[in-house]
Amino acid sequence: MLKGKHIILGITGSIAAYKAAYIIRALVKKGAEVQVVITPAGKEFITPITLSALSSNPVISEFFSNRDGSWHSHVDLGLWADAMLIAPATASTIGKMANGIADNMLVTTYLSCKAPVFIAPAMDLDMFAHPTTQQNLDRLRSFGNHIIEPAEGELASHLVGKGRMEEPDKIVATLETFFDESMTLKDKKILITAGPTYEKIDPVRFIGNYSSGKMGYALAEACAARGAEVFLVSGPVSLQAKHPSIHRISIESAEEMYQCAMDVFPSVDAAILCAAVADYRPEMTSAEKIKRESTGEMTLKLVPNKDIAASLGQIKMADQILVGFALETSDEVHHATDKLKRKNLDFIVLNSLRDQGAGFRCDTNKISILDQEGTLTEYPLKSKQEVAVDIINKLVSRLK
Ligand code: PMT
Repeated sequence: MLKGKHIILGITGSIAAYKAAYIIRALVKKGAEVQVVITPAGKEFITPITLSALSSNPVISEFFSNRDGSWHSHVDLGLWADAMLIAPATASTIGKMANGIADNMLVTTYLSCKAPVFIAPAMDLDMFAHPTTQQNLDRLRSFGNHIIEPAEGELASHLVGKGRMEEPDKIVATLETFFDESMTLKDKKILITAGPTYEKIDPVRFIGNYSSGKMGYALAEACAARGAEVFLVSGPVSLQAKHPSIHRISIESAEEMYQCAMDVFPSVDAAILCAAVADYRPEMTSAEKIKRESTGEMTLKLVPNKDIAASLGQIKMADQILVGFALETSDEVHHATDKLKRKNLDFIVLNSLRDQGAGFRCDTNKISILDQEGTLTEYPLKSKQEVAVDIINKLVSRLK
């Protein structure tokens, strides 16, 4: 996918700059031509000689050469590129890019670049979490740039948290997927449900569940990153959808989620139902806060909610793909098979609470995918972002 592609690799002043050498090697091995643009601070962390030897191209850092006065045209470079990748991208460079502070060759090249831009942040966890950095990243996303989220782990400061630049092989895989026409979701519309539903008992109490929305939001971001327009029907969660192509519709109850999903479904190519929808709701909702003193012992009568997946399964058109989840605690494959058939799904993603690191709230998941043809594919424990990619790869093959 990268054969013959022109890639500008921007390197900034981070300890992760050494990983840029691995990125160049992988890109060159896959047939890409790499032109390195490095900031002055970047050169403190890795030498231009190493980078030039690996890329077989002189490394560009300054606007002018002191020796002969020749100048490097950031405009020509920007036009030459099929993609620009900034890895590692420091908080400082991200800030400059977000605000057009063009005081070095890397940022001027970025501003001149017409090709897609990928940014792989690398910094300390508090710097990454700081609202300034997050707002700058949101701004860059809103311009259509692709942010390759940093991973969690031990940082140069020896603190542990989110801020480690993503590994070179995963960064290169992101570019490969982008250029792989067969893996794109461009021009596709996807409905995704995520998070829990809240079923109201009175104005201060509800029946809910432990869903954090992490799995559903990872799916939404991954679909949008592949070019899809995403309709994310979300229960109450503390997460935010970041990609500009995600339209978030916030709901609270299963009934509201049902109404939204039924409205949106006819206009989409596929739906992925990741929400943990309450199967029951209280028959009566009290308008006033229920008082223990006046109520005494209390029995809640619950009535079943509509099954959103099964309802969509009934109105599904031949060219639409419907993907469900099954969250199980025993006899997993049997229950997932039953749901796959009963709800008329194309495939179902099974996760079991018996697997450590799987299911609610955690950053990882362990899934199996079971399809209509009876094929069961098991995957190892992965981050929810990686799990989302596995699910979307399966979806893309179905949409063909
Ligand atoms: O949000 P996280 O903390 O990241 O956790 C992720 C998750 C555990 C919620 C997710 O991976 C998951 O398993 N989601 C589905 C949870 C669930 O409700 O599973 P289920 O087996 O009860 O339901 C089967 C399918 O029917 C699901 O696609 C569900 O969305 C759908 N359903 C269920 C009930 C209902 N009334 N309507 C539905 O559409």
